[in-house]
Amino acid sequence: MKYIGISAGFHDAAVSVVGNNSVLFAAHSERYSNIKQDPMISAAILKEALDYVGDDDFEVHYYERPWLKFLRQLYAGEKPKLASLSPKYYLSEGAQSLLKGKKFHTHSHHLSHAASGFQTSKFKEATVVIIDAIGEFDTVTIWEARYDNNNIARYKKLYSKKYPNSIGLYYSAVTQRVGLKPNEEEYITMGMSAYGDNKFYTEMLLNTVADINELQFKDNYHIGFPENFMTSASNEQIAHSGQAILEKLVNTVMLRARRLCKSHNLVFGGGVALNCLANRLLGKYFDNIWIMPNPGDAGSSLGAALLEYKEKVEFSSAFLGTKIDGEYPVQGLIDVLLSDKIVGVASGKAEFGPRALGNRSLLADPRGKDIKNKVNEIKRRQKFRPFAPVILEEHVHNYFMMPLNWHNSRYMQVVAKCKNPERFPAIAHHDGTSRVQTVPKDGSGIRLLLEEWYKQTGCPMLLNTSLNIRGAPMVNNRDDADRFELTYNVKVLS
Ligand SMILES: [Fe+2]
Repeated sequence: MKYIGISAGFHDAAVSVVGNNSVLFAAHSERYSNIKQDPMISAAILKEALDYVGDDDFEVHYYERPWLKFLRQLYAGEKPKLASLSPKYYLSEGAQSLLKGKKFHTHSHHLSHAASGFQTSKFKEATVVIIDAIGEFDTVTIWEARYDNNNIARYKKLYSKKYPNSIGLYYSAVTQRVGLKPNEEEYITMGMSAYGDNKFYTEMLLNTVADINELQFKDNYHIGFPENFMTSASNEQIAHSGQAILEKLVNTVMLRARRLCKSHNLVFGGGVALNCLANRLLGKYFDNIWIMPNPGDAGSSLGAALLEYKEKVEFSSAFLGTKIDGEYPVQGLIDVLLSDKIVGVASGKAEFGPRALGNRSLLADPRGKDIKNKVNEIKRRQKFRPFAPVILEEHVHNYFMMPLNWHNSRYMQVVAKCKNPERFPAIAHHDGTSRVQTVPKDGSGIRLLLEEWYKQTGCPMLLNTSLNIRGAPMVNNRDDADRFELTYNVKVLS
């Protein structure tokens, strides 16, 4: 039996397939349709998922309860369409016909988040914390998770906070206030926060948060802050204070989780778990931390499938999507890096999650002053935004100060202080931190490349950013890679 999980109807629809003790396939819809943040499931992604099912029988599992979401939308004063009561509403006609006659089993939104985290972790028991913007009604939940004597995952809900009080919605309101796109550009808000100061922190806290311990806000921030909100503060100051308030709120939740649940293992999920600045504080409360590489709603497609699969799966990498055949082009990449300093790679299976981890990446030599501007020019993005380093895991402590209880950062989920930012200005942010990716001895293509790069240059790291044309989804197949090459005149090797 195989289990197809689907999450759709928000800004990043996805499909996963689980069976044989592993995740067989997991991918984002947008990378097939080429529609950035596609909420729909197309026939193309589903066809590829069904290839992994083969001739086996399969079930379809959906990541939330549409009728509960419908009720919440009514409560929020929205006008949801009656047709959205069926999860099939977010499938194209072609996709629907591929699943003709199949029943869609539905699961709780936050429980799907919890399962995607716990059942991909190495833990036998864990404290699970989910913080997101909005799903059905829950916005924060805390769970005790463990496997029973038959290795079946069991979840006990210990706490929940409900809409409209939402840490995720709060941060989206901050994002909107600083002139960025809510539900999409929160990661840019995070980068901008390094340029602000705390002059308006107390005023913003008093204006927006009614009771920090109870996670009560002064207003419903679903549609943003009121007009003329703190106009005397600059965007950078709002981003800085907004980030600091978010961290205070996340700390409050973690403290509560620590009190409610015995386990020192933390599984953190929901969109807020993508905030790699806040994540540096998690080790204050927990000895071991696991954040699935795709902790937002797209990752919940995997959670929905896992809820019915019921057991733990082996999860060793985020390379779970479309495959570009051929060996990882190590020597070719080294040659271009040595001559041109910048090169693209599209090889093997695509990453499941928002970060390029080496299979759909634009790579560059991180040394030297001009690299940041050159890569920024190619990517056509804001000059203040830093790039991330990818480093041989055994060298990470020589170059970065990892936060407490973060022994590695294999999915680029936390920031660390760069020890020599002046030597590596392209990968160090304004505040001297880097969103580091560590690569263990796992035989992956990016590992082999870094080993060879280190051998030839003595530098164990590269700059790594996603391979995508501005405003478009990440490169998926070779055709997309060719388009990238043509648009930016940068070699992309497969
Ligand atoms: Fe969510």
